[in-house]
Amino acid sequence: MTDDRLIVALDVPNALSGAELATQLGDAVNFYKIGLGMLTGGGLALANELKQEQGKRIFLDMKLFDIGATIEAAVRGLAQFDLDFLTVHGDPHVVAAAKEGAGASDMKILAVTILTSLDRADLDVCQIRAGDVSELVGARAARAFEAGADGVIASPQEAAMIRALPQAQDRLIVTPGVRPAGADLGDQKRVATPANAVADGADHIVVGRPVWKSSNPRAAAEAIVAELNSPQAHNPNH
Ligand code: C5P
Repeated sequence: MTDDRLIVALDVPNALSGAELATQLGDAVNFYKIGLGMLTGGGLALANELKQEQGKRIFLDMKLFDIGATIEAAVRGLAQFDLDFLTVHGDPHVVAAAKEGAGASDMKILAVTILTSLDRADLDVCQIRAGDVSELVGARAARAFEAGADGVIASPQEAAMIRALPQAQDRLIVTPGVRPAGADLGDQKRVATPANAVADGADHIVVGRPVWKSSNPRAAAEAIVAELNSPQAHNPNH
């Protein structure tokens, strides 16, 4: 059984190891995230290979940020790669330019609100205005949706709050920071289980290390898919 709600982060150093992992996972996984860490190791070529040869869906996690004209040009170029999701920072001018660049392609623009690795002390250092982090996340998500974002990246603990925003209707919420019960947290701090994340309104969950570091990645992915289809994952409002 496969389930497109599970996105596996291919956080391995190069396209060769990414392709090997995808082969191991086989039809247990249908959606992959390729990030900046693999960009110089053939990430775009791997995205193409997984898409064109294996029919997989691809989330390119670039977290772009620049002046509008540059974002538009970059996204226009990436739109030719037949990608499914692309991340940009959630500043309204960035989101609006990315949507222009995406044009009529099917590529969805997902906005990063505030990196989940940042806490209030980090925001102070960056001179970000006062306020509770989750309040700022909600405000930035609302602005990103108003600028046209097809979805946002959020911590699972912010999913329910974002899902309740009027601007979030028919938009996607994608949550990293997901850990099956008992899994090693790594550097993730604010985590939830796959079932809780979707019950709180996430449309997709991104899971990396619990799958690719596992001694049996395929079994790990299958266990997550089983959890996503368990009664605990049911969202009565969805
Ligand atoms: O290994 P792990 O499951 O923690 O991987 C999560 C993936 O999601 C990594 O690729 C990480 O860069 C990404 N991510 C995240 N938090 C964000 C945005 C992306 O953990 N706010």
